[in-house]
Amino acid sequence: MSDKVRLGFIGSGGIVRSHLEQGLKDFPDVEFAGWCDLNAETAAARREQVGGHGEVFVDAQQMLDVVKPDAVYIMLPPYAHGPAEELVIARRIPFFVEKPVAIDLETAQRVAEGVERYNLLTSVGYMTRYRKSVQRVRELLGTQKPVLLHGGWLGGGPAKYEGIWAWWVQKDKSGGQFLEQTTHTIDLARYLFGDVRSVYAAPVRGCRERPPFFTIEDASMVQLQFRNGAAGNLYSSCSTSVGGGISLTLWATDMKAEFTGWEHTVKIMLPDGETINIPGEQNIFAKEDRAFIDSVKAGANRGILATYADGLKATQIAVAANRSMDTGEVVEL
Ligand SMILES: NC(=O)c1ccc[n+]([C@@H]2O[C@H](COP(=O)([O-])OP(=O)(O)OC[C@H]3O[C@@H](n4cnc5c(N)ncnc54)[C@H](O)[C@@H]3O)[C@@H](O)[C@H]2O)c1
Repeated sequence: MSDKVRLGFIGSGGIVRSHLEQGLKDFPDVEFAGWCDLNAETAAARREQVGGHGEVFVDAQQMLDVVKPDAVYIMLPPYAHGPAEELVIARRIPFFVEKPVAIDLETAQRVAEGVERYNLLTSVGYMTRYRKSVQRVRELLGTQKPVLLHGGWLGGGPAKYEGIWAWWVQKDKSGGQFLEQTTHTIDLARYLFGDVRSVYAAPVRGCRERPPFFTIEDASMVQLQFRNGAAGNLYSSCSTSVGGGISLTLWATDMKAEFTGWEHTVKIMLPDGETINIPGEQNIFAKEDRAFIDSVKAGANRGILATYADGLKATQIAVAANRSMDTGEVVEL
């Protein structure tokens, strides 16, 4: 590998724009080699964002074979995963993949097996893990028992069905709000409280007039039982015009922690009235990307906090919730 890590992108939409804007564009040790998107204009827009560097492709295989990147960013909607990962794994290329890693468990398991077989470096876009607030709470949890948590993503949903919102409201494309968006909080719950044993989910539908292609739930409430005995409740809604935002509140034997907002500012309450406040970061993508690029350069993990195995586990929980919404039954993992 030269001094610079040569990157290829598969999927070059909104989230790629954010990663570039928030820092990746200015990393001195990165070279933008290839931009792939089904829509060539979208790929070309990303190329323009980095001063015209890199070639535009509409076919991922062609990009990989022509450009031969050192690492690949797979930035696809949930329904599109699988073929891109297989191409990348076949060439033994380390990859960063945005959350959620797949819409179904079979795809995620197949990819996870390939990653394991070749011991590939991977990073999954659960950027919240990199926050100081989350790290501090995790550290405190190391010496006490988790008890309860609740939290979720509550909003009004899309006003127009364009860009991401065109596929987001279609259950067979996004997997629903819990799988696609609340996945950040699923992962955070796992990161802080540990693995999940069973899932029960209640869907909420029919709250608003929707176009026929709007097939996701209006809201859902998902009950989690953790393997260590703790319990959690995660809610999602795209039906409340007054919002509600992003939050996670947890209790352990000697702590209450309240995370609020996308940036996950935390207020931690400890025994004897001790309180710790940690503001969340506005820019977190750069930290996550730095860890991935450093790891690719070293050929070993240098700070990646969520790997494909974590992506698989979050998918497993979300897919179980979708099954529970359909059947009304508790799903054991
Ligand atoms: N980490 C975060 O906070 C965060 C925020 C937003 C989105 N995301 C995730 O990023 C992923 C992408 O979201 P987005 O906002 O960029 O969506 P988007 O719709 O803006 O972009 C997706 C792009 O993928 C392209 N595409 C689809 N199938 C393809 C294929 N087979 N080959 C090549 N290109 C293909 C589309 O043409 C589109 O341009 C989603 O999984 C989403 O959940 C993560």
